[in-house]
Amino acid sequence: MNRICFICLGNICRSPMAEYILKDKLRKQGIKNVIVDSKATSYEEQGNDIYPKAKNILKEHNIQFSTREAKRLEKEDYDKYDVFYYMEDKNLRNIERIFDKTDKCKKLLIKDIEDPWYTNNFEKVYEEIDEGCQEIIKLLKNN
Ligand code: 4NP
Repeated sequence: MNRICFICLGNICRSPMAEYILKDKLRKQGIKNVIVDSKATSYEEQGNDIYPKAKNILKEHNIQFSTREAKRLEKEDYDKYDVFYYMEDKNLRNIERIFDKTDKCKKLLIKDIEDPWYTNNFEKVYEEIDEGCQEIIKLLKNN
């Protein structure tokens, strides 16, 4: 599972946060040969950079990130990744419409990671994504 794609609704808050949090852990642990990306299930924010409040929380936790453009998940992406981690059950229903199959798709945590676009609770989202990424690191180390 060395090609990982995180999925959320807009690809400007949760999934890019997960992308850069996991990249930070991989770098710190010296784990190489893992591709990490993130995509949206909607076109709402296509082309937009990470939401400023998500950038701020990454900065507070000393997580490096770069300027990026939100991208929508497309059918052809199915074969480009080994696993897709989504944030909440609603995402899976949208992913099903794009892929027609969900066997590579897992929820990052057992519970939903709620959309901070609506809750405004970026610190809670950071902590939850961090927990999920710690589990991914454990899985990668056991493979
Ligand atoms: P995200 O948050 O799914 O965590 O990137 C959202 C950002 C934008 C919108 C929805 C969710 N939006 O509808 O524009």
